Amino acid sequence: MKFHNLFSAYDFEEPRLYDNAIVIMIDVLRASTTVCASLFNGAEAVIACDSYEKAMNLYKSKKNKRTFILAGEENTTPPAGFTLGNSPLEYNIDVVRKKTIILATSNGTKVFEKAKEAPYRIVGSFVNANAVLDFVEITMKSNIDRIITICSGSSSGTNKEIAAEDVLCAGMFLDEISSHFPDPYLSDSAKIAQDFFISNSDNIHNVISQSKHARDLRSKGFAKDIIFASTANKCSILPIVQENSKIIAHK
Ligand code: MLT
Repeated sequence: MKFHNLFSAYDFEEPRLYDNAIVIMIDVLRASTTVCASLFNGAEAVIACDSYEKAMNLYKSKKNKRTFILAGEENTTPPAGFTLGNSPLEYNIDVVRKKTIILATSNGTKVFEKAKEAPYRIVGSFVNANAVLDFVEITMKSNIDRIITICSGSSSGTNKEIAAEDVLCAGMFLDEISSHFPDPYLSDSAKIAQDFFISNSDNIHNVISQSKHARDLRSKGFAKDIIFASTANKCSILPIVQENSKIIAHK
């Protein structure tokens, strides 16, 4: 089994990279965590949009708007005309149950729109770690020859940066899944993520809370989001990305 990691949504993708792959899409702060919270609290689905305009137009096109919520963040707060932001704490049962969330964020939803050729695209984070590992353990027995983690990275303005919290999460999945194989092949980027996890496995909350994006979120009053996002297995749900970037809970 081969293992590969992309450090951000903007990383190079070799041709046919996603053939026969399970792709784990990671945006710990906060899009993956928010998708898990919304589906765990009863949302019908989350539709990922790689631009705010696309999300707004999709929402405007819906006749029965009462079952849709336009949500997302730009520089951590909801863009104009959006109902919800990207804090997982906003997505409680009363707000999202039986609703479809139309979501656009800086980086995370761009990742969720990638790798369309892959047979399996799932959303991963710390809050649903065991659900991801259980799904991969079962699914990798079918015609799968590689596991790929895609980190969303963080951005401020036009700067796109590697996000420590995403690489830590990717490393956790790569380390745990590759341990099931006698002779796994890890690309250098997968090995770097795995080593980063191994050297910080007893320091997870600290690595997340000291990351650049966490400091940014804390400075804007979202400290509780960081605690939520670092809580392992808080939402035992497996979001799976379908063709039209519609994300539903795997049954
Ligand atoms: C992103 O998509 O870049 C993040 O989820 C941003 C955030 O929620 O702060």
